[in-house]
Amino acid sequence: MISARTADDLRARIREWRVRENRIAFVPTMGNLHAGHLRLVRHARAIADRVVVSIFVNPMQFGPTEDFTRYPRTLEADRAALMEADADLLFVPDVEVVYPRGPEQTTRVEVPGLGDILCGASRPGHFAGVTTVVAKLFNLVQPDTVVFGEKDYQQLVIIRRMVEDLNMPIGIEGIATVREPDGLAMSSRNRYLQAGERATAPHLYQLLCEVRNQLVAGERNYAAVERAALEALARLGFEPDYVSIRRAADLASPGAADQVLRVLGAARLGATRLIDNIGISIA
Ligand code: PAF
Repeated sequence: MISARTADDLRARIREWRVRENRIAFVPTMGNLHAGHLRLVRHARAIADRVVVSIFVNPMQFGPTEDFTRYPRTLEADRAALMEADADLLFVPDVEVVYPRGPEQTTRVEVPGLGDILCGASRPGHFAGVTTVVAKLFNLVQPDTVVFGEKDYQQLVIIRRMVEDLNMPIGIEGIATVREPDGLAMSSRNRYLQAGERATAPHLYQLLCEVRNQLVAGERNYAAVERAALEALARLGFEPDYVSIRRAADLASPGAADQVLRVLGAARLGATRLIDNIGISIA
């Protein structure tokens, strides 16, 4: 596996592959790789000739009181895992490579509306930080396909919209969330959980499953279901942010005719903000 730290190093290698008409799949990450990330890399391996992975903890998507400085950085373990998963190139730029004028002065890419709801409402500027860095990474890597996890479902929908709006010739693939045996969605932030919080954390997923069961059984009072789920989370010791039933394709509030839905939830446990979501098909 080759490593590149600068845009020039990366571009030189991409150019060679493009000349050979290699298909390139790309997995952007912030590192601290777990089985969820490695499933994305394995999927990329299966669909392309060349697999590029980036590790960049993007300061622009963290709020001033968020965990940018303590976000886990485990480059050597990540590198070993990526070699094992047969990635071809690891791009690990410094902040100055991605933002030569600093994150404040960079041209921004923003998806209006979709970036302001759900997690965007409680993390202002977060999705603008994500779409800006992802657009830059797409321009650098020039992939045919990019693979994202469905764990960050709102991020996935926003990136699909960005690619469509900006006519980027890139396919976006979403891969199902990888879970711990007790149902907790794998996330780099799970390591922040204290022992008691770790025992409570899987209840978020269990609650989303209960919401799904109610809708599949015919319940259509979405507001009441959401309210009850929020109350249940609070009783379990979470500080809930939202539980929301949305149309899967565009995260709009579902109408009576909508059948493909997504239930999304976010809640804090101590210092850790957890998010999760599941798909629902109703007849
Ligand atoms: O999902 C993530 O890890 C990040 O938001 C991403 C897409 C790598 C952008 O920094």
